[in-house]
Amino acid sequence: MKTLVTYMTQTGNTKKIAEAIYEEITGEKDIKDITDVSNFEGYDLVFVGFPVLQFNIPEKVSEFVKENVAGKNIAFFMTHAVPEGFEAIHSWTGSCKDIAAGGNYLGTFECQGELAQPVIDMLMESDDPQMKEFGEMGPSTKGQPDESRVQKAREFAKEIQAKVQ
Ligand SMILES: Cc1cc2nc3c(=O)[nH]c(=O)nc-3n(C[C@H](O)[C@H](O)[C@H](O)COP(=O)(O)O)c2cc1C
Repeated sequence: MKTLVTYMTQTGNTKKIAEAIYEEITGEKDIKDITDVSNFEGYDLVFVGFPVLQFNIPEKVSEFVKENVAGKNIAFFMTHAVPEGFEAIHSWTGSCKDIAAGGNYLGTFECQGELAQPVIDMLMESDDPQMKEFGEMGPSTKGQPDESRVQKAREFAKEIQAKVQ
């Protein structure tokens, strides 16, 4: 049983969750930035992580998954600025399921991640009102993902691994 934990990150939040999942996984395992992964060959289970960007899965992540998911056990983890429970999260987890078509979709973990100050500044300057709204949300995201969220990610890792053993 060999597991790959791969992720995209810009400011480190998704990487923090990736590392927690990786630590919790037993057996043979690798953790890699998605840019260092050419395909999922040789892995029995793959976790793919990303930050939600502009209300969506980053395109390079979704394209990569679609190209490589056939026949694979796959789970996702994502971080986002909006608080957990925010309605749009359902559509993001739904999109994870969609891009995993052809593989064996096992589940998605999601939690809030801090908006870094340069990102807040950039969002506040945007002409898009929705992006400005995210910028205003910035201070409330401070410190995320915190230890309680990291712990939930560990539990998620265990649950997912149990599904394929
Ligand atoms: C350009 C840009 C767009 C973003 N769009 C969204 C969004 O639509 N919804 C959301 O909840 N968070 C959004 N965020 C916030 C990130 O998803 C969040 O800060 C995430 O934890 C960053 O993860 P990272 O540190 O791994 O890059 C956006 C961030 C950036 C930089």
